[in-house]
Amino acid sequence: MQGIQIIGMGKALPARRVENEAFTQMVETSDEWIRSRTGIQSRYFCKEERQMDLCAEAARKALANAGVCPEEIGLCVVATITPDYHTPSSACMVQKLIGLPEDIPAFDINAACSGFVYGLEVVSCMLGSDALKRPYALLIGAEKLSRIMNLQDRSTCVLFGDGAAAAVIRPSDAHRFFCRLGSQGNAEALNAPGAGYPELYIHMDGRKVFQFAVHAMENGIRLLAKETGVSPDEVDQFICHQANERIIRHVQKKLKLPVERFFMNLDQYGNTSGASIPIAMAELMEKGQLKPGTKAFCLGFGGGLTWGAAYLEF
Ligand code: UT7
Repeated sequence: MQGIQIIGMGKALPARRVENEAFTQMVETSDEWIRSRTGIQSRYFCKEERQMDLCAEAARKALANAGVCPEEIGLCVVATITPDYHTPSSACMVQKLIGLPEDIPAFDINAACSGFVYGLEVVSCMLGSDALKRPYALLIGAEKLSRIMNLQDRSTCVLFGDGAAAAVIRPSDAHRFFCRLGSQGNAEALNAPGAGYPELYIHMDGRKVFQFAVHAMENGIRLLAKETGVSPDEVDQFICHQANERIIRHVQKKLKLPVERFFMNLDQYGNTSGASIPIAMAELMEKGQLKPGTKAFCLGFGGGLTWGAAYLEF
């Protein structure tokens, strides 16, 4: 079966960095509570930046990193729950901003924090299609969650951040790819209302999502191991959705896997939903930790409730 290869990545963050301390002016909370319950120390919030600007910056960097020009892109997909417009999609706006060809499909995926993993599967299927006339796909995970955050709600406002990262992907027989996705309709655990609803903000039952998350991650690792024949001991990097340090540690300890194989950067960015896995991946790439031969399990979970588990070779 044909696999895929990520040949370049880039990330983009808004200019404004917000430390935990800033929230003590808005709600009853403390730096100590936020750090100890989540691992988060700071995050970035957009000021002037639009979500599509973050997408375009990440995409330009990924193209430069891959050595690919916009004319060679045959598919543009953005995983997001916070687009600037419901229509046009962020993918269409990126197409215009960075000058992608006009005879290619461009669309958004809404699978919340699992969005980038869903995107990998969509891209891998479409790259095998005769309908794509150009060799590469651009997959972006991007969020401007500050737009839907209630700064009076301490149970959510301290958790999320804005950011984006992009990947240039090509089909490859030499790089295996395997993915499993799931979903269960559940608006009580996590929701962000659509247009026309009086309530504007994200709502989350943290404990319910926490339980779902540890279960989804553990199952995802076991499933990938069973279906790919790659044992967790052979996996170099577990690239997990960056929601909470305690979720990642819980799974790492339960499966008795080495702590250093679970990359974490949520201390700096908070939970950036659809952007969190690609930002982590872009940083691992910057650090030279996704070199040829590296085997990675990617694990996403979040609103939907959705989950996604993917095996990637670099
Ligand atoms: O990306 C989408 C997926 N999302 C997630 O994966 C999030 C998963 N959930 C979590 O990460 C955790 O459940 C949270 C970080 C959201 C909350 O941590 P927790 O340990 O589950 O805390 P809790 O919700 O059980 O709340 C404990 C206490 C409560 O007070 P009482 O009822 O014990 O008096 C909360 O009201 O902490 C209180 N609390 C806070 N206190 C200070 C909640 N938020 C805050 C806050 N500052 N910001």
